[in-house]
Amino acid sequence: MYRKIIFGAALALMTFSGCNTECCKNNSNVSSTSFDEVLMSRRSIRNYDSTKSISEAEVRELLKSVQEAPSWANQQPTKYYVAMSSEKLAEVQNLVGRNKERIMGAPVLIVSTFEKGKSGFFQGNAANEIGDGWGAYDNGLSNCYLILKARAMGFDTLIMGMRESDSLRNVFQIPENETVMAVISLGYRAGEPAQPQHRPFDEIVKIF
Ligand SMILES: Cc1cc2nc3c(=O)[nH]c(=O)nc-3n(C[C@H](O)[C@H](O)[C@H](O)COP(=O)(O)O)c2cc1C
Repeated sequence: MYRKIIFGAALALMTFSGCNTECCKNNSNVSSTSFDEVLMSRRSIRNYDSTKSISEAEVRELLKSVQEAPSWANQQPTKYYVAMSSEKLAEVQNLVGRNKERIMGAPVLIVSTFEKGKSGFFQGNAANEIGDGWGAYDNGLSNCYLILKARAMGFDTLIMGMRESDSLRNVFQIPENETVMAVISLGYRAGEPAQPQHRPFDEIVKIF
């Protein structure tokens, strides 16, 4: 009886420690692989599957994650105006120039702005020569979170710098203290995109 208990306990310990080691190994592999997969599979998508939709709850989940992005002194200057209704989508589609045909099938179009005079400012004065450039910097960080989280959720995106900012301001009644930045399409890719060329690594990285 006593030997049986010892044997059982030893077996349970071996099984548990074996599983534990394997689980940890697997978990760490899974999380790093999936992050790399997000990075590697995210591409600018210029052709969307118009038969697939995205719910408001999914858009809210996505933008909630974007709130985790860092910003100057936690100023959080980035704001989003989301077009999901067919009326608003049609209005925004007409305000992105030649991008229109690229994003026609996307069920969501998001206009990003940042509030001026927040990031990079202290008591109303620019903290350094970058000024409101820090607001644009923070906006880019938030948008980076957006496109990566979107990919992690199985969505695709296109950031568009070609857009008509004054008309977008009218469409969404964006106040003058906000700078209109990129429009971002959100949807599902209709095909696999071409891989972009990257500059030689040593041309852009100097390690001292
Ligand atoms: C600030 C910014 C503005 C962009 N504007 C446009 C645009 O107006 N139209 C477009 O088709 N792509 C636009 N792009 C996408 C870039 O062309 C794309 O990121 C680049 O070619 C690298 O390809 P990848 O995103 O697939 O890695 C823009 C990207 C950024 C970051």
